[in-house]
Amino acid sequence: MYFSEEKISEIIEKNDIVDLISQYLSLNKRGKNFWGLCPFHTEKTPSFSVSGEKQMFYCFGCGTGGNVITFIQKIERLNYVEALYFLAKKARISIDERANKKDLENVKKRELLFNINGTAARFFYNNLIANSKAMDYLSKRGLNKEIIRKFGIGYSLDSWDKLNTYLNSKGFDNNLIENAGLIVKKEKGYYDRFRGRVMFPIINLGGKVIAFGGRVLDDSKPKYLNSPETPIYNKSGSIYALNMIKEISALQNIIIVEGYMDVISLYQFGIKNVVASLGTAFTEQQAKLLKRYTNDIIIAYDSDTAGQSATIKGLSILQKEGCRVKVINLPKGMDPDDFIRKEGVESFNNYINNSLSLVEYRIYNSRKNSDPKILEHRIRFSKNLAMILSTLKSPIEIDAYIKKYSKEMQISEEAIYGELKKIRSKHISGNNRHNIISKFNEKEINGQLIAEKKVLNICVLYKDKAEKIFSIINEDDFSLPLHEKIATIINLKIKEGKTISAGEILIHLTDEEERQKASEVFKTDITGKDIELLDSYIDKLHSHSLENKIKKLTDRMNEYYRLEEKEKANEIFKEILDLQKRKK
Ligand code: UTP
Ligand code: MN
Repeated sequence: MYFSEEKISEIIEKNDIVDLISQYLSLNKRGKNFWGLCPFHTEKTPSFSVSGEKQMFYCFGCGTGGNVITFIQKIERLNYVEALYFLAKKARISIDERANKKDLENVKKRELLFNINGTAARFFYNNLIANSKAMDYLSKRGLNKEIIRKFGIGYSLDSWDKLNTYLNSKGFDNNLIENAGLIVKKEKGYYDRFRGRVMFPIINLGGKVIAFGGRVLDDSKPKYLNSPETPIYNKSGSIYALNMIKEISALQNIIIVEGYMDVISLYQFGIKNVVASLGTAFTEQQAKLLKRYTNDIIIAYDSDTAGQSATIKGLSILQKEGCRVKVINLPKGMDPDDFIRKEGVESFNNYINNSLSLVEYRIYNSRKNSDPKILEHRIRFSKNLAMILSTLKSPIEIDAYIKKYSKEMQISEEAIYGELKKIRSKHISGNNRHNIISKFNEKEINGQLIAEKKVLNICVLYKDKAEKIFSIINEDDFSLPLHEKIATIINLKIKEGKTISAGEILIHLTDEEERQKASEVFKTDITGKDIELLDSYIDKLHSHSLENKIKKLTDRMNEYYRLEEKEKANEIFKEILDLQKRKK
């Protein structure tokens, strides 16, 4: 945060959104809101609305929305901090120049680094087109000009300083180029980090080049050289080709592969919903990023041992974030690039359609490493099997797997069940929110989400109501993570004895996409009828969260029944009855 929160609140409060936007376009009052022609897309009838009450704007035509800061950022083409300066000046709010000077410098520096990388990427691209050796290499690997252009692939000349000299000639100084990770300092001076390599730019969601990976043209080592971490490149938080995913309109799932070439190759064969985690261990941060686009993820890592363990780790990280994950198990020694070139798209699609669940994949791997002829292997595998199955809920699935393997391992079904029971009694697996929600039917979910949106909007419009609402419910009662987050912010302010507008809530959300989604939440209209219905909305939230608790307890109870721990099951049954009474 470059400005203190108080400062930002003050800036928002002192710049009335209706006044401000009126300086840019003409607004007419219709109903509670003001309407005009959207400045962010071309239109003939006004669908751009401004709410004085909420201090928000929203365009029903193009979906752009936000608060005063967002508006100034977009219309004046400023970044966040610059927009704050702009608005502070407009409202004659004093800011401590000294404290903020450094932050502004940081912002400027980041922009310079983006610039340097962008310039370097263009340089690499032009080098490639003119270099027959590098072009030959790529065409041997099956890449055509169109795909080279699409991914901005380039070539770093086999020279110590060509890039350095070029960037100097464009006015960038060595200190910054080094900061961007493109040159390296040695006693004798600087030299280019990437030499004689095919260059793959890594591009962020804003379309800016943040780093590079460079591959040698032969078998020399290291095969790939990557940019170091820089002020604009955080490895564990970046995903290769995620910028391309944004272009897909009806995205069903995302395929994660390991390498640059896998992404590009699949893309060229028309499989465009693909990104790469780039060889490093898959992180929680990356999982969160992917989850913004879809919950359905397919992992297609190399089928070597390193790839396998990366698969299992990636799987569990993604599942923890609530994703549905499946695995493609390619033939030995192949990566997706090798496979699709050798076997074709249809074969690859077959693999996608037959991808394995985590359980299947884990069993498959464990089985692959066991020889049923060896006693120890049979024991180890059967124990493993019980361990893996203990994460399953469906008795039918468990039964099917046990039947399938007990014969092969010459171990009785009862013995494997016994092992399973032992493991289960140690840790009763909890149920996660995600599964619970997926059990509700769609209509119910919609009604619930509408109630949640209405309640949040009422909270920002009617401060007295907000306090009352949060004395009855709390943030846990909201089913959507974003709603929960907004509720948390509102509740926090209430506890501090303060009030908050929808526009102000946006400043607490650090993520641009989240802000956009939140501004959609606040486009919900509140009428007198909604106020009348408030109690029923609250009831809905309340009963939803009770329902959640009951579902969780029921699962636990069933678990105990299955394990024949009747006493524990009965205890939980009583709790459930208590909750059910509260429902009425
Ligand atoms: P692979 O060796 O599987 O790469 O490493 P690949 O994409 O199949 O390469 P080709 O087909 O031989 O060109 C997977 C990923 O791991 C990272 C790269 O991001 C690579 O794409 N990696 C690999 C490195 O960073 N450095 C290396 O030396 C090797
Ligand atoms: Mn490969």
